[in-house]
Amino acid sequence: MSAMPKPASSRNDLVARDALDPLAPLRDSFDLPPGLIYLDGNSLGALPRRTAARVGEVVDIEWGAGLVRSWNTHDWIGAAARVGAKIAPLIGASAHEVIVADSTSVNLFKLVCGALGLRPERRVILTEPGNFPTDLYVLQGIVALLGGRVELRLRTRAELADAIDEDTAAVVLTHVHYRTAERWPMAEITARAHGRGALAVWDLSHTAGALSVDLHAAGADLALGCGYKYLNGGPGAPSFVFVAERWQEALASPLSGWMGHAAPFDFVDDYRPAPGVRRQLCGTPGILGLAALEAGIDVFAGVDMAALEAKGLALGDAFIDLVEARCGFANLTLASPREGSQRGSHVSFRHPDGYAIMQALIERGVIGDFRAPDTLRFGFTPLYLRFVDIWDAVETLRQVLDSEEYRQPRFSRRAPVT
Ligand SMILES: Cc1ncc(COP(=O)(O)O)c(C=O)c1O
Repeated sequence: MSAMPKPASSRNDLVARDALDPLAPLRDSFDLPPGLIYLDGNSLGALPRRTAARVGEVVDIEWGAGLVRSWNTHDWIGAAARVGAKIAPLIGASAHEVIVADSTSVNLFKLVCGALGLRPERRVILTEPGNFPTDLYVLQGIVALLGGRVELRLRTRAELADAIDEDTAAVVLTHVHYRTAERWPMAEITARAHGRGALAVWDLSHTAGALSVDLHAAGADLALGCGYKYLNGGPGAPSFVFVAERWQEALASPLSGWMGHAAPFDFVDDYRPAPGVRRQLCGTPGILGLAALEAGIDVFAGVDMAALEAKGLALGDAFIDLVEARCGFANLTLASPREGSQRGSHVSFRHPDGYAIMQALIERGVIGDFRAPDTLRFGFTPLYLRFVDIWDAVETLRQVLDSEEYRQPRFSRRAPVT
């Protein structure tokens, strides 16, 4: 991964790169359908081999036989913190700063409300237009809930850093953009926020498990992210929350449920927050979801995140080069940064017939996704993709475009999920 490889000119070039890839054996940790090229691990990660057996064990032994005793005997009560501690090294955090709870949307609500509570005299939440919809919708909901005490300000990438001022309570951004894969300079924006007395809240949904992010080095305050994308925790897996140690005793959760109480089994009437990040728990955690997420996280044990990131970016670079070299006749426009260090682990191209093209690709066994109105999105999960998959995926794309088979009416029929 050290020397800059030349663009591949043949399939064999990429077969050769796989032979030299020290991360290649990790592919065996996944149960991938034969013959399929999966370029959507940035939406739903693939199934780790160990997950089914582990979830089966939790169902049969821990739930079936252990019943309610398993909260203690199988440490279900400690699972949210245990899995959070395993996520921590993947994002440059300490074990006691991360916990698994709720969904990403719910965690964003909790953290932003908490951040506003730390800056009660300030009235602005700052984000960018085109942020992931749930982030925008949750922020709009907070503004409505607080009845006008706070205002949501949207500023473009070019404007945002300068828009952070003494009125800003929190800057809320998605580190890697869900559509374009553009990366925010996390340390720079966080420093800028701190310089103006604001907090920074980072959505790491398209970062965790793909990039070697370092929350400590970036001086991050609060962060959260999905468990079902690059962390391979399964559909609807619970989310993770990071609260920097320095904020843990001051940050309140607006969802003051009993699992975040200092002593839930005292059953007292008055809420008293648990110490540390545990107060970010609200209700009873879903143990089956946590078990599947833990199996996904365990695949990362011993994996060098910097090497993983470098491979994901190299896969993306190879994809961009090959699409431009082999599909140049089609009306595809690169919608992601060409420079790997500016990108996450996915690459998007725009095309007016993007939806139909993606459906035709999927029918041929190359799975990516589509983001309206015209974006074809291809995710490069470094844990299980091979360089040769890039060649084969681009060759399939070339055939779909060259034959114009995507013009068949069935490819334009919209499914509820794109
Ligand atoms: C940046 C970002 N945030 C949040 C979410 C989803 O949040 P939730 O898991 O609550 O549906 C996604 C899903 O794709 C996302 O891309």
